[in-house]
Amino acid sequence: MASAGAIEQDSRDPGTFQPGKRSRERAAVLCGVGAYIPPSVVTNADLTVRFDTSDEWIRTRTGIVKRHVVDRGTATSDLAERAGAAALKAAGVRTVDAVVLATTTPDHPCPGTAPMVAERLGMSGTPAYDVNAVCSGFVYGMATAAGLIAAGVADDLLLIGADSFTTLLNPHDRDTVTIFGDGAGAVVLRSGGPDEPGAVHAFDLGSDGALADLIMVPAGGSRRPPRAMAHGADDARSSAYDDAWFSMQGRAVYRHAVRRMTGSSRTALRRAGWTADDVDLFVGHQANVRILQAVAGELGIPDDRVCVNVDQVGNTAAASIPLALAHAVSSGQLREGDKVLLTAFGGGATWGSCALTWPKTDPPSEGPTSF
Ligand code: COA
Repeated sequence: MASAGAIEQDSRDPGTFQPGKRSRERAAVLCGVGAYIPPSVVTNADLTVRFDTSDEWIRTRTGIVKRHVVDRGTATSDLAERAGAAALKAAGVRTVDAVVLATTTPDHPCPGTAPMVAERLGMSGTPAYDVNAVCSGFVYGMATAAGLIAAGVADDLLLIGADSFTTLLNPHDRDTVTIFGDGAGAVVLRSGGPDEPGAVHAFDLGSDGALADLIMVPAGGSRRPPRAMAHGADDARSSAYDDAWFSMQGRAVYRHAVRRMTGSSRTALRRAGWTADDVDLFVGHQANVRILQAVAGELGIPDDRVCVNVDQVGNTAAASIPLALAHAVSSGQLREGDKVLLTAFGGGATWGSCALTWPKTDPPSEGPTSF
């Protein structure tokens, strides 16, 4: 896919294969949205009891008012299953040809979580696998889904973005506990024509592994296996304890996120043959309202065309964009035929954007904690 150097300009010869451009004959068409957020809520006021912080600081620096968190014993597959069921219902189908789950918080380091979710949704035997691109996971998942459809591997599929990101957080770390929440969102995609409402038009994806340590859980993988960190991992004063948790260099992430989401959005718009003026709704990764405003401002997209729900759910990683889409559907911000631009930045570092039109969708509904 697009290299870092391809962000500002696309230098490929016209007429040669262009990654990110849709096939003329067979497009992926979005046809249903579902969402689920766990019932437990942590407000900014709750956090002031645990940390030296204030509602005012969190609101003005991040835009976040509350976040939903999983209770002990609830795992990512539980959220994914609920969101997936809601999306299947919204699309009016019971089964699909494949299940792709974007997540950084699988139920277990091994195996992947998608097969368990597929089985619980009544689709045992269906191909199912996880995609890990952290907060860009859903956009990477969209590209994976579109590829499976374009290649004829699947005629329809369920893409879920789900994360229980709070399970990665050091409970003593004010900088991350204030930002992240848990949830899941899902869409059903089917094969269709490129001119149908719901058709996916263009992608841009990129990564820069030199920035890996900006967003990282240092230990617990093959570099530092769980056995090697067991000693001291329960002692909050030890470095083994710190390294077992998620760490983030917030200020640097902020800078890179604005730059990459802006560049990637421009590339996806150009590949779709759209300008920023064409965009009816800008749905960026819900990390921080200031990042969303900065990217939209650079692109020239006015505030009333920017989807914001980070205030209600915090940063939900791979669930962020589908939760924002579900929010936009329920709040009447999305109508059939609207041109929608998705963009995200996440650990890796990874980034990606997707241009699609919006289909006719009914408001997703399934219980009080679903949109
Ligand atoms: N409450 C009160 N003070 C806080 C705080 C909190 N929750 N978090 C940080 N601070 C303090 C810092 O300690 C620092 O204090 P100092 O100046 O005495 O050192 C001060 O506020 C400013 O910190 P800084 O990190 O510069 O703030 P910021 O304006 O950059 O906001 C983030 C911090 C994390 C909100 C912001 O950098 C951000 O949103 N980054 C991107 C995070 C993200 O999106 N991650 C996921 C991407 S996929």
